Amino acid sequence: MLKIRKLTVHYGPLPALKEVSLEIERGEIIALIGPNRAGKTTLLLTLSGILETMEGRVTFEDEDITNLSPHHIVSRGLIHIPQGRHIFPTLSILDNLLMGAYTKRKNKTEIEYGLKEIYQLFPKLGERKNQRAGTLSGGEQQMLAIGRALMARPKLLMLDEPSQGLAPRFIEEIFDTLNRMNQSGLTLFIVEQEIDLTLSISHRGYVLRNGRIIREGTPSILLESQEIKELVSI
Ligand SMILES: Nc1ncnc2c1ncn2[C@@H]1O[C@H](COP(=O)(O)OP(=O)(O)OP(=O)(O)O)[C@@H](O)[C@H]1O
Ligand SMILES: [Mg+2]
Repeated sequence: MLKIRKLTVHYGPLPALKEVSLEIERGEIIALIGPNRAGKTTLLLTLSGILETMEGRVTFEDEDITNLSPHHIVSRGLIHIPQGRHIFPTLSILDNLLMGAYTKRKNKTEIEYGLKEIYQLFPKLGERKNQRAGTLSGGEQQMLAIGRALMARPKLLMLDEPSQGLAPRFIEEIFDTLNRMNQSGLTLFIVEQEIDLTLSISHRGYVLRNGRIIREGTPSILLESQEIKELVSI
């Protein structure tokens, strides 16, 4: 579904990604594990068209999307939930969800249908839809960020450290929901530092360090690897 070939990205003269290659098949959950400053966010920003590629190529559903603009990438169903969630705290929960709808849901019936699905997945969002989003807890804000992304009808959903700053029970709830979303057909690319939980729901994973992929494989192979053991001990 997504193929990344030898992607190199720089901030000015400084390389942040070096010849990164990675593949995601339809229906998979793929984990990208890496320490702080490894280049994880840089990769997602590049896939979303926010940062420019220096070298390399990205294809999505057999179409070359390298350096397409963000709105073209969103309209193809490659949707990004940013690190830190970036919800609009002074807007209501409902208005935050509607923000996600504007590229892909054109009429009232489609919007109502999308909202209904999201309220089924996250009942709390439905109960509190007219409250300001800033009144939600961190875990609920992450649910809102997922809900907003679902309003854009993702084919492949990319999440940048969804567990960051959350209490353990919310982290488990989020991962449980991601697993259920995958079982109902959504492909997921999860960037995380929460290694065990992420690999427990993933089909395969990659380890990124200093802008390079240093290891890839199934969760059991990765958990046994020196690269992951070193990360756990940091
Ligand atoms: N806007 C920027 N300008 C210059 N350098 C940047 C910029 N953003 C990130 N970098 C650098 O690029 C490298 C990769 O950063 P990136 O944010 O992609 O890492 P990350 O793996 O997402 O880290 P974290 O786990 O802390 O979120 C780091 O060395 C960082 O300092
Ligand atoms: Mg990051």
